Amino acid sequence: MRNFLTLDDLSEKEILKLVKDALLFKKNEIECDLKGKIIANMFFENSTRTQYSFNTAEEKLGMKVITFNPATSSLNKGESFYDTVKTFESFGIDGMVIRHTNNEYYKELKDIKSVLINAGDGTGNHPSQSLLDLVTIYEQFNKFDNLNIAIVGDILHSRVAHGNLKVMERLGMNTYISGPKEFMDNSSKFIPFKDAISEMDIIMLLRIQRERNAVKSMSDSEYLENYGLTMDKVNAMKKDAIIMHPAPFNRNVEIADDVVECPKSKIFTQMNNGVYARCSILNHCFK
Ligand code: CP
Repeated sequence: MRNFLTLDDLSEKEILKLVKDALLFKKNEIECDLKGKIIANMFFENSTRTQYSFNTAEEKLGMKVITFNPATSSLNKGESFYDTVKTFESFGIDGMVIRHTNNEYYKELKDIKSVLINAGDGTGNHPSQSLLDLVTIYEQFNKFDNLNIAIVGDILHSRVAHGNLKVMERLGMNTYISGPKEFMDNSSKFIPFKDAISEMDIIMLLRIQRERNAVKSMSDSEYLENYGLTMDKVNAMKKDAIIMHPAPFNRNVEIADDVVECPKSKIFTQMNNGVYARCSILNHCFK
C-alpha cells in the first residue's frame, strides 16, 4: 500500500507504467479487484470531474465508497482538518482521496496510516489530472519525447499547470506558457499565443481561477479575442495538433463555444481517460 501525493515522488518509469496501465484499464485488459477495501472521498474544495471520476473508478474496482460532506460535518463546530482525517483513519478506512485549498496539505498528515491520494492541493499539484493528461497525450501521439505543448491562461493560480509542466519536462516534452502577463510566472518559457497556435502539438487552455482571487484586466470578449481559442485560430493549428483543457471551462472566455467539441478537442476524452487514470492510481496504491 502506498500514497499518491505528487508525481515528483515517482520515477519516469513508474509514471509511464501508470499511463500504460490506464490504457489497459480502458481496453479492459487488466485485472484489479479491490473488493473489501473502503475508501473515503474527502473534498474540502469543490469538484465535479475529480470527485466523481474517482468515485466511478472506485466502483469499477469493487471498492466501498464513503463520500465525506464538509458542509454537514463537524468542521462547522471547529474540528480541524487534521482531526477530521485522523477520525477517518480511526474508523479503519483503507484510503482517503483528499482535495484541499492548502498547498501541500498532506505534509501535516505524514503519520496517517490509511492510503492518501491527493486530488488537488491549492495551487500546488493535481497529480491525477496530470496523469489523465499524460494518458490522453500518449494515446494520441504514442510518445512524449519532443512534443511541444503550450499551457495558456491563468498559469499563476493553476495547480494543473504547475504539476504538468514539471512532469512533462521530465518526460522529454518541450513546454511553454502563454497568456496575459498578469497570469504568467517563471514555471516555463513564455511563447506569444499567436506563435503557440502555429507551432504547438498541444494547446492546453486554462480558466481564470476566480476562487483564488484571480482578476483579469479585460472583458470576457477582449480575453477571447486576445487569448481565447476561437475557430479561426484552430484552423491555423498544425494538422495533427490537439486541444486540451482540464475543465471546468468558461465558454466564450478562454475557449469559444464551437471549439469545445470540435474535432481537435480532446476535452471530453480527457474526462473519459480520467476514470481509467484513476483506476491505474488505485491499482498502484492498493496492490
Ligand atoms: N479538472 C478538475 O479538477 O475538475 P474538477 O475541479 O471538477 O474536479
